[in-house]
Amino acid sequence: MTKQEILSNIKDEALNNKIPILQDDSLEAIKMILRISKPKKILEIGTAVGYSAIHFIKCLEEINVQCKLKTIEINEVNYNKALKNIQDMELNSSIEVIKADAREYLINIDEKKEQYDIIFIDAAKGQYLIFLENAIRLVKNGGIIIADNVLFKGMVLSDYNEHKNRTAVNRLRKYLSIINDDKRLKSTLLNIGDGLAISIVNKNDI
Ligand SMILES: C[S@@+](CC[C@H](N)C(=O)[O-])C[C@H]1O[C@@H](n2cnc3c(N)ncnc32)[C@H](O)[C@@H]1O
Repeated sequence: MTKQEILSNIKDEALNNKIPILQDDSLEAIKMILRISKPKKILEIGTAVGYSAIHFIKCLEEINVQCKLKTIEINEVNYNKALKNIQDMELNSSIEVIKADAREYLINIDEKKEQYDIIFIDAAKGQYLIFLENAIRLVKNGGIIIADNVLFKGMVLSDYNEHKNRTAVNRLRKYLSIINDDKRLKSTLLNIGDGLAISIVNKNDI
């Protein structure tokens, strides 16, 4: 099997198993950002089965950019599947998967020792504010924070107020208001996929 076929199988298997992977249009938008910014270090919060991480590294390899990607996954089944997929794609030297709750893991990263060009937030929506706080701390000056699912099936910009998703929706609303108001961030919201927020961080602008 070619690597392209393996990647295509990873996608099909994830969709069949209802694993929420990055949608095609959001993936293409992020790949464009990667091609322009040529990151050397990426941090991903929410690995699932490694689909987005593999795409990001393959995209950068195509333009001869050597990038290291660290990705964090809380779910053991997903974590093990991600390890296997990354192994099958022979990308172990570029992608490191951490089995952890990102809320705890991120807090323990020392920003003086570890800084990232791009941080991609794609995990539990109710935790985006904690992820953002840490992402601002861990991203390099001039780096980019990208968050997927910020429109949460249209609920975030509607008058949705039902009990079921209220906390997550309210936190995503707060996420959007912070990236709009925080002077360190220049942000845009793309109405593609499930909503993609992109923020460029300038820490000198505080
Ligand atoms: C939307 S999926 C990630 C999709 C992946 N980025 C892709 O596009 O291929 C979200 C993942 O985040 C994981 N997750 C949720 N909360 C987490 C947390 N606090 N720490 C680490 N992973 C978490 C879930 O188990 C799930 O696998």
